[in-house]
Amino acid sequence: MAIDLRNYDSPEYQELKQIIEEKKQLRDPLIEVLHKAQGIFGFLPSEVQEYVSEHLGVPVNKIYGVVTFYNFFSMKPRGKYVINVCTGTACFVKGAPKLMQNFEELLGIKKGETTPDGMFTLSEVRCVGACSLAPVFVVGEETYGRVTTKDQLKRIVDTIKANAE
Ligand code: FES
Repeated sequence: MAIDLRNYDSPEYQELKQIIEEKKQLRDPLIEVLHKAQGIFGFLPSEVQEYVSEHLGVPVNKIYGVVTFYNFFSMKPRGKYVINVCTGTACFVKGAPKLMQNFEELLGIKKGETTPDGMFTLSEVRCVGACSLAPVFVVGEETYGRVTTKDQLKRIVDTIKANAE
């Protein structure tokens, strides 16, 4: 069920409030709090940013700046699985653009978008430290290397979907 973002009494906001209280004493708690908030809500819409602003005492435009600067933060709902294609140098050289294109065609979405069924978000990351496996993509805890053809990708996507059901 979707979270009511205007209901500040919801369990999600209560959890966030508690986290903010705990982290408030840190020297620069903003990024950590935003990470936790994204973990709770799945994304960081303006309602959540305003809530963090008010409770953490940080101007909302600073929060907006941080959220839009780091691409691991998202203001749009993300899919159940985020496919992160590595676009670091080694992966780029070994075909990351083609890998991204194959995913876009396979899923019918562009980079940064989420499939209509809410299952997959296609995103990019910088080097994940597995350059010898380039080109690499990461889904959750799983790192996939040297998988490039659409058929191979389709099999992986189908397996993830099957396991999700
Ligand atoms: S550049 Fe992709 S894992 Fe290092």
